[in-house]
Amino acid sequence: MEIKRIQNLKNQAISRILEAKTEAELENLRISFLGRKGELTQILKKIPSLPEVKRIEVGKIANEAKRAVEEAISRRSSAISLQPEKLEKEWIDVTAPGKKPPQGHFHLVTYAIREITAIFEKIGYTRVRYPEVEWDWYAFSGLNMPENHPARDEWETIYIEELRSKKYGNVVLTPHTSSGQLREMERRKPPIRMLNIAKCYRRQSDVSHAPMFYQFETLVIDKGINITHLKGTLDYFAQQYFGPDRKTRIRPFHFQFTEPSFEVDVTCIVCGGKGCKVCRGGWLELGGAGMVHPQVLKNEGIDPEKYTGFASGFGVERVLMMKYGIDDIRLLFSGDLRFLNQF
Ligand code: FA5
Repeated sequence: MEIKRIQNLKNQAISRILEAKTEAELENLRISFLGRKGELTQILKKIPSLPEVKRIEVGKIANEAKRAVEEAISRRSSAISLQPEKLEKEWIDVTAPGKKPPQGHFHLVTYAIREITAIFEKIGYTRVRYPEVEWDWYAFSGLNMPENHPARDEWETIYIEELRSKKYGNVVLTPHTSSGQLREMERRKPPIRMLNIAKCYRRQSDVSHAPMFYQFETLVIDKGINITHLKGTLDYFAQQYFGPDRKTRIRPFHFQFTEPSFEVDVTCIVCGGKGCKVCRGGWLELGGAGMVHPQVLKNEGIDPEKYTGFASGFGVERVLMMKYGIDDIRLLFSGDLRFLNQF
């Protein structure tokens, strides 16, 4: 008796659903059969109180009926949404251009690295990268800074304590790209024209220092290389990167691995070299440079009587900051889209 009633109810529901013309009609039908007080729901509610044998049989049929009604509603709903009158009202121009999803771009440090690479590749340099985690020998000892040498303090280095080699010493997070000088000399014979751009790490953090930053290092080794080649290359870089009116100057300085050594300045981007509060005196510091120390050449089996060379090491973020007048290096690593979208 119950079963017959359920089947009649299902057939009645499905035929009414098939006749429904609007979503509203369909919703009314759903409520009258499957809503809280719906006819089918009432039957389902009574099932638990039936004797066990009947309960299983009626339960199965009633649940099937519920599923069939739900499916009929869902099918009719799709059919209603595709009715020609409805489609006509909701006409869309399929030829209209779509909304473009927002498009990202590379980080400006990546652009700077690409630009610097292109500038040096034009004059025959080869771009290389050397390890971020380095043996002490390449970072310090091989560059004339033996263990406990005070000059090392300048680099505020992060050491990895667990690892140590008899030949190469401790392991450090590369504090400067000058370690690439030794690695390059091991890899190829002169003439060498290397551009090493890599991540560096130091225990430093303020408006102009980041704990992780990039340096780009040049190394040129050949017969007859002298300071005029270094100075000419620095001018070439400054004019290509900052603009044709830029000039560089070299000031005497000290690095263990170059002799003589210099600090390199470029005329201030803001005042053009007249002097302002950004530069104080017309010059901004770019980085370090010098003629490769004869002992460094010897360390890698290159005869300093035959070959000479120069090297320079600048911060990628620093040159970028100078070019665009960015006054805090931390902005570059903040991921703040309001800042990044300007580039
Ligand atoms: C050096 O690291 C030398 N290796 C440079 C060198 C290379 C000298 C070849 C001679 C021959 P210095 O510590 O001054 O030198 O760093 C060079 C440049 O790296 C700085 O002028 C600055 O532009 C950048 N730099 C250094 N420390 C940081 C830091 N914590 N955050 C951002 N940039 C930095």
